[in-house]
Amino acid sequence: MSLVLGIESSCDETGVGIARLHPDGRIELLADEVASSVDQHARFGGVVPEVASRAHLEAMVPTMRRAVEKAEVDLGDIDAIAVTCGPGLAGALLVGVSAAKAYAAALNVPLYGVNHLPGHVAADTLQHGALPAPCLALLVSGGHTQLLRVDDLATKITEIGSTIDDAAGEAYDKVARILGLPYPGGPPIDRAASTGDPEAIRFPRGLTGPRDARYDFSFSGLKTAVARWVENRERDGLEVPVEDVAASFQEAVADVLTMKAVRAAEELGVGTMVLSGGVAANSRLSGLAAERCAAAGIELRVPRPRLCTDNGAMIAALGAHLVAAGVHPSAVELSADPALPV
Ligand code: KG4
Ligand code: ZN
Repeated sequence: MSLVLGIESSCDETGVGIARLHPDGRIELLADEVASSVDQHARFGGVVPEVASRAHLEAMVPTMRRAVEKAEVDLGDIDAIAVTCGPGLAGALLVGVSAAKAYAAALNVPLYGVNHLPGHVAADTLQHGALPAPCLALLVSGGHTQLLRVDDLATKITEIGSTIDDAAGEAYDKVARILGLPYPGGPPIDRAASTGDPEAIRFPRGLTGPRDARYDFSFSGLKTAVARWVENRERDGLEVPVEDVAASFQEAVADVLTMKAVRAAEELGVGTMVLSGGVAANSRLSGLAAERCAAAGIELRVPRPRLCTDNGAMIAALGAHLVAAGVHPSAVELSADPALPV
């Protein structure tokens, strides 16, 4: 039995999670503490790297203390430490990596530098148990939009598609700004869309032409189309129907994400799809994914929102998978890699 502590600091969430790896391979979540600096970034309309790094520095030790208390363990009981070493913001990642190294050295336990993206997939195993292999993961957040083929969470993950410009969450945040809604834009757009008409405006579905990359995404053209539509409306002195624009934009995002993900699952012959990342909380995205997966006979797994957004529990879970798989720990030279590939 192993107790694994996970540290996450790749963006604006300082997360510390503690998970217990049982002899039968089950991973039990004992603590999941998160401190967010999102409020400090709100007035800038996006994450400010320097502000995020400082916030991590302030929050790291208190978040660690809360996690250990919540799990009702002693720091001395920890058997391994896992930390996000990329991808993400360089300064933010370095705070987590430095903290993890210090704790690993002080406790004399192995240190695992892990990739944030499989971490989002590992989060699902905390709620729904082991994943069938292979499976497909659709990761959608403010920083990433990826389709991953997962053969083994610990050792074999392949990126089969990604956004070529903005991440899906980034598009939500930018469109919210255009519509005068607060940051982060996902939740207010989701709310506004609930009373809007998703068919009011037909916004473009990026990269869906017959010659376009089958599994890649593009959202910057969609964002520009929304901006133009709103500008034209204002120029003509007409009111902007915020609810209809939000619903039509949201429909375009959900349509293209689910269409490509289901197509990938069918073409790869996988029977299970995991939907994770902050945007997985979107009601239309999860609803349409459920509908289209059911029609295609694909099992859809969506972790609860708390596990979808950035957290330390997912890093502890991925660390536990690495321990279980007998993967070698990282060397003491471990550093942060902002552009770490999957
Ligand atoms: O995973 P996450 O917490 O952090 C990143 O790694 O980026 O994702 C944050 C993103 C933000 O862009 C936010 O606007 C979006 O997730 N988001 C949503 C919803 N809730 C959060 N997007 C659409 N609908 C939502 N309900
Ligand atoms: Zn993330």
